[in-house]
Amino acid sequence: MRASFAVLAVLAAVANASHRITLRNNCAWGVGLTLSNFPHAGVDYTGPAIGDIGAGQSKDITVPDRWNGRICDRPPNSGCENDCFGGIAFGRAACSMTEWNFDSVNGKTDYDISNIQGFSVAQRIIPDNGETLTCTNVNCPCNQAYRPNDTSGTCGGTGPVDQATRVAGSSGFTVVFCP
Ligand SMILES: *[C@@H]1O[C@H](CO)[C@@H](O)[C@H](O)[C@H]1NC(C)=O
Repeated sequence: MRASFAVLAVLAAVANASHRITLRNNCAWGVGLTLSNFPHAGVDYTGPAIGDIGAGQSKDITVPDRWNGRICDRPPNSGCENDCFGGIAFGRAACSMTEWNFDSVNGKTDYDISNIQGFSVAQRIIPDNGETLTCTNVNCPCNQAYRPNDTSGTCGGTGPVDQATRVAGSSGFTVVFCP
């Protein structure tokens, strides 16, 4: 029995070299998602494109340790099909996103919801262990999501910087669309 526990411990250590993100679409419509490795400051995700997730469907992706990037909604005419680089700051359609910096803060993960490129879909991030973030409309609170166009991250100059961001030592995360 001890031997099999040792094997399990080794398997657990190997499994820790990556992270699960479950993308669950509770919307009544399909969501098309782009994963971007921007700002290319960590280990790039090189897996298959996420593509479309139908109404009521979910999809798991596996990102490497120290993945740093974003996952965005990419409505037509948002420009977010390419690297999540479009949206309202470019005078185009809005695209909601989540931002991720895995294993970056003393081995823990920094995550947030961002409407900096606009709000196009309600989102919730649920870490397996850690604090949930929810943004269900364009005016959601600054401690839940970055505001549209607010690149300073200060809630339009009214609050502390980066109050939308959380840190969790969670291996896996779930993102719910239309929570
Ligand atoms: C965001 O900034 C862009 C570019 O300055 C501007 O065209 C757009 O109207 C702004 N949108 C909002 C919601 O502030």
